[in-house]
Amino acid sequence: MEEFVRRYRAGVKARQARGRAKLLARLERVEAPASGPRGPRVTLTAAGRTGREVVRLVGVVKRFGDRTVLDGVDLTVERGQRIGVIGANGSGKTTLLKLIAGRLVPDEGWVIPGEGVRMGYFAQGQEDLEPDRTVLDHMLMVRRLSPEEARRHLARFLFQGDEVLAPVGRLSGGERARVSLARLILMQPNLLLLDEPTNHLDIAARTALEAALSEYDGTLIVVSHDRYFLDTVCDSLWVVEGGKVRPFDGTYSEFAAQRQSEQASEAAGGSGNQARRPDDGTGGARGDGRPGSGAVPSARRPDREHAARARRLAAQIAAIEADIARWEKEKQRWEAALADPGLYADGERAREAVQAHRAACEALESLLEEWERLLQEQEQLQAQAQQAQAQVHQAPAHGQTPG
Ligand SMILES: Nc1ncnc2c1ncn2[C@@H]1O[C@H](COP(=O)(O)OP(=O)(O)OP(=O)(O)O)[C@@H](O)[C@H]1O
Ligand SMILES: [Mg+2]
Repeated sequence: MEEFVRRYRAGVKARQARGRAKLLARLERVEAPASGPRGPRVTLTAAGRTGREVVRLVGVVKRFGDRTVLDGVDLTVERGQRIGVIGANGSGKTTLLKLIAGRLVPDEGWVIPGEGVRMGYFAQGQEDLEPDRTVLDHMLMVRRLSPEEARRHLARFLFQGDEVLAPVGRLSGGERARVSLARLILMQPNLLLLDEPTNHLDIAARTALEAALSEYDGTLIVVSHDRYFLDTVCDSLWVVEGGKVRPFDGTYSEFAAQRQSEQASEAAGGSGNQARRPDDGTGGARGDGRPGSGAVPSARRPDREHAARARRLAAQIAAIEADIARWEKEKQRWEAALADPGLYADGERAREAVQAHRAACEALESLLEEWERLLQEQEQLQAQAQQAQAQVHQAPAHGQTPG
C-alpha cells in the first residue's frame, strides 16, 4: 500500500511537471457546474434547508421484550453534522436510526424532528424495497419522472436496458443496494439516515457513493463498520454501547487512536493519570469544555472550521488512496486473467475480462484525478493557514488604526 502511494505521488509530480496548466484546466472543467457527470459520478443534493436543530432525542428508552436496547438517550443533531454511528453487533445502531426515522416508537422519551426536515432512510439489508416491483417502479414511486429520465438516472447506478424492468426481489444484494441509493438520491433528503450502505457494494459503487456523500451538504447520520468509509464521509461519531450513545467530536481514526492511547496508558498502570477519559460522553471530546449535547458542528470559529476541513481532506485522501490500492489490485487481477491464453477459448468470458479490465483502468484514472485535486486542495489549505499565521505575527502590537 505504501509503495503504491509513493509510486503514485511520484507519478503525480511527473505529470504536474509535464503540464500543471493542463491539469488546472482540467480541474476547472471538472469544477464547472455545467460539466456533466464523469464516470459513475452521482450528485446528492439536499432540497430545502432545515432549521438549525434537525432532530432531538430526549430520554429515549427502547425495549424489545425484557431486553432494554437503548436506555436513556439524549442527543441533538444540528444542521450540517456528519455523524458516523459505530458499535458492536446488536448494540442498537439500527434501533437508534429507526427511532430517528420514525419507524420505531420509543417506550419512554421523545424523538423530536426539527422544522423542514425531509428524511431519506436507507434500511440495513434493503428491507424496505418491494420485491415484486421493478427497479424502474421504485424510481417512479418517489418522484414524477419520465421513464426516459428514470432510465438515465438508473444508468448512473449501472442499470442498463432491460435490467430496469427486473423485479427487485430477483436482484443480488449489491444490485438492491444500488436501487436503494438511486431512489434515495431522487428524494433529495436534507437528513440522510444510512444503515450500513456499503455492505454488498462493489468498489465502483462504493467509490461513487463516497464521492456523492462527500459533496452532500445536508445532515448525515450513517451506520458503518467500515473505517475508510467513516473517515471519508463523517467528521464526528456516536458510539453505541451498553444502551448509551456517546458523541465523539472527531473522525473514526482519531477515535481509534484515542482509544488505543487510553488502553495503552491503562495497561501501563495509569494510576497517576487521573481518569483522563476525553470521550466520556459529555461531548467535550477535545477537552474544549463545551457542554454535553453532542458533537456540535465545528464551524463556530474559523480555526475550528479550518481544522475540520483539513481533517476531512486528510481523511478523504487516505480513503481515496485505499481505493486506488484496491482498484490497482483489481486491475492486476484482470491483467493476469487476460494474459492467460486459455481465456480466449471462451468468447463470453474473454469479453467480460476485457470490459472489467477497462472499467478498472477507467476507475483508476478518475480516482487519480480526484486524488490530485484533493492533494492540491490540501496544499492550498496549508498555504492559507501559513498566511493566516504570518498575518497574526505581523499585526501591530498596539492595535493603532491608521488614519
Ligand atoms: N423487532 C425486534 N424484536 C426483538 N428484538 C429486536 C428487534 N429489533 C432488534 N432487536 C434486538 O435489539 C438488539 C439491537 O438490535 P439492532 O438491530 O439495533 O443492533 P445493531 O447495532 O444494528 O446490530 P448490527 O450491527 O448487527 O446491525 C439486538 O439484540 C436485536 O436482537
Ligand atoms: Mg444494524
